[in-house]
Amino acid sequence: MKTLVIFDSLYGNTEIIARAIAEAITGDVKVLKADDARPLDISDIDLLIIGSPTQGGRHTKSVEALLTEISGTFDKSTKIAVFDTRMPAKWVKIFGFAAGKLADFFKKEGFEPVVPPEPFMVEGAKGPLKEGEQERAAEWGKNIGRMINA
Ligand SMILES: Cc1cc2nc3c(=O)[nH]c(=O)nc-3n(C[C@H](O)[C@H](O)[C@H](O)COP(=O)(O)O)c2cc1C
Repeated sequence: MKTLVIFDSLYGNTEIIARAIAEAITGDVKVLKADDARPLDISDIDLLIIGSPTQGGRHTKSVEALLTEISGTFDKSTKIAVFDTRMPAKWVKIFGFAAGKLADFFKKEGFEPVVPPEPFMVEGAKGPLKEGEQERAAEWGKNIGRMINA
């Protein structure tokens, strides 16, 4: 199985989550930052996982640029999963979150993500990740890998 994990990260927290997810999935797994990913990287992938920090209630500009570039280019058999990092503060809820917007994008493209959009929590804007989130990310990745391989 070929897996590609794409992430963006300003302060490094989402990168830690992305790498924990990737390490927990067996097979051919590649991790790319959104700015470094090209449509060719996404072709011929069985499982595509995309994650972004939530910034202003959505994914980052780099992730948006990539989504625009890859829109309409997916192989119909590609399995999709999305995640974000976000803060636990109540006020941020009004703006929404990156993972929900990522899921909306894929639904519009005709892909239902294989699991619900997953949040991972940081303690403040620059992090660190809340205790246990890196381990939870590994578990999340492992479960998706198992699900796709089954
Ligand atoms: C410009 C900016 C806007 C942000 N807006 C939100 C937001 O709307 N909701 C939220 O939960 N967190 C928000 N945050 C906190 C980010 O989610 C947090 O910085 C991110 O999860 C850290 O991930 P990273 O280390 O990979 O950049 C914002 C952070 C920045 C820098």
